[in-house]
Amino acid sequence: MSQEPASREQADEWGAGSNQRLASGLRQRMQRLPQQRTVVAEGLLKRVVGLTLEAVGCQAQIGSRCRVISGPDSEVEAEVVGFSGERVFLMPVGEMRGLLPNARVIPLPHAAAIPVGDGLLGRVLDGEGKPIDSAGPLRCERRLPAVESINPMTRAPIMRPLDVGVRAINSLLTVGRGQRLGLFAGTGVGKSTLLGMMTRFTEADVIVVGLIGERGREVRDFIDHSLGVQGLKRAVVVATPADRAPLLRLRGAWLATSIAESFRDQGKQVLLLMDSLTRFAQAQREIGLAVGEPPTTRGYPPSVFAQLPRLVERAGNGEAGGGSITAFYTVLTEGDDPNDPIADTARGILDGHILLSRGIAEAGIYPAIDVEASISRVARDITAVPHQQLVRRFRQLLSAYQRNRDLIAIGAYQKGSDALVDTALLLWPRIESFLRQDFHDPAAFADSLKALENLLPQ
Ligand SMILES: Nc1ncnc2c1ncn2[C@@H]1O[C@H](COP(=O)(O)OP(=O)(O)OP(=O)(O)O)[C@@H](O)[C@H]1O
Ligand SMILES: [Mg+2]
Repeated sequence: MSQEPASREQADEWGAGSNQRLASGLRQRMQRLPQQRTVVAEGLLKRVVGLTLEAVGCQAQIGSRCRVISGPDSEVEAEVVGFSGERVFLMPVGEMRGLLPNARVIPLPHAAAIPVGDGLLGRVLDGEGKPIDSAGPLRCERRLPAVESINPMTRAPIMRPLDVGVRAINSLLTVGRGQRLGLFAGTGVGKSTLLGMMTRFTEADVIVVGLIGERGREVRDFIDHSLGVQGLKRAVVVATPADRAPLLRLRGAWLATSIAESFRDQGKQVLLLMDSLTRFAQAQREIGLAVGEPPTTRGYPPSVFAQLPRLVERAGNGEAGGGSITAFYTVLTEGDDPNDPIADTARGILDGHILLSRGIAEAGIYPAIDVEASISRVARDITAVPHQQLVRRFRQLLSAYQRNRDLIAIGAYQKGSDALVDTALLLWPRIESFLRQDFHDPAAFADSLKALENLLPQ
């Protein structure tokens, strides 16, 4: 017969006593158990097509890594990217050499979290967060925390401009803290140079640069010339050039974004520059097609269009009172194809775009910003009314001039036919010199606005 406790106090005492007895019993049993090792289900390599490896018998989660061993000197690291029934699909992370049928596929433990903090400033990392600048190991105390997406309702609105140090952008296409913009241009029109100017001249606290899928030579060039010693001091560069595996190129873009987030969460104003979003999309396309996704839009599988907004959404403002990530993503517009699905998608998910024009670059005007075709969607919310009036006036003059450009060029424009065109014609040399900015000359926000005021007659 079980005995009832006489009071509540007694019940608590009995409960505590039985818990203690249970815990000590469990401890004793655990000590008697033999020390167990974690079981790793090893697999065998059965098929290799292009960049896709297929293994059977392997128990590994999507996103985890495996070692594929064909012999004592042949080892390839690969990441699990999909499965079908018993088959696991992997893609190599490094070079794929010396693979043999039935090579052993051994799942690896989770990769260590990436160190973050001020120790990253001035450093150049690869897509896995390993330093590649021969400046020794990273000196960081914190590790990258798990990423949580920000609730759009608690995200602080874009309220204040960010000085990017470029006159035409500061004055005519004002960028807000936490805004995400596209930098659209063909090759060789001056994207990297413009990004370099921003890294050196911006008022942001930290600059994170993701060099994704561009030429290897460019990485060196960007660090030595565009950033320079001074620029690199408050910058972190993540570089995964075109010759790296598509997985690493993708990882580089995510890593740069995560590093930017870690600084934002410390309350810093971060400028994130990603060169280029097109190469990120192409890397995702390589992976999607390799694991059997259907090419739906101009050869791009659906996962590309799912990943682009996921990446871009991670930039922006944090919660109110915190830091911000203002981001520029370069988008290649080769052949000026208006139906390029990546450019189209980017336009839809970003808060503005700045277009660099080959015609303007060929005329020797750098940065070759096509102000007429560019837009900052938040400029109206973060600038004063007199500033907005100046911008409107500038745009009117610019477009009046452009509409009559051909007539003016052949000397067929009759002065006096249109007052606006007359003013544009009169001001044109000053407009051009306002838009021109030498690579070495910064233009602070207040100075840019003053220059715009001085340019336009009241
Ligand atoms: N502000 C500038 N002043 C003078 N020349 C410039 C300027 N910006 C770009 N250029 C010229 O344009 C060339 C290409 O510039 P940059 O490498 O920045 O272009 P890109 O768009 O990044 O090219 P790619 O598509 O090859 O990456 C430079 O080598 C330089 O000659
Ligand atoms: Mg470039």
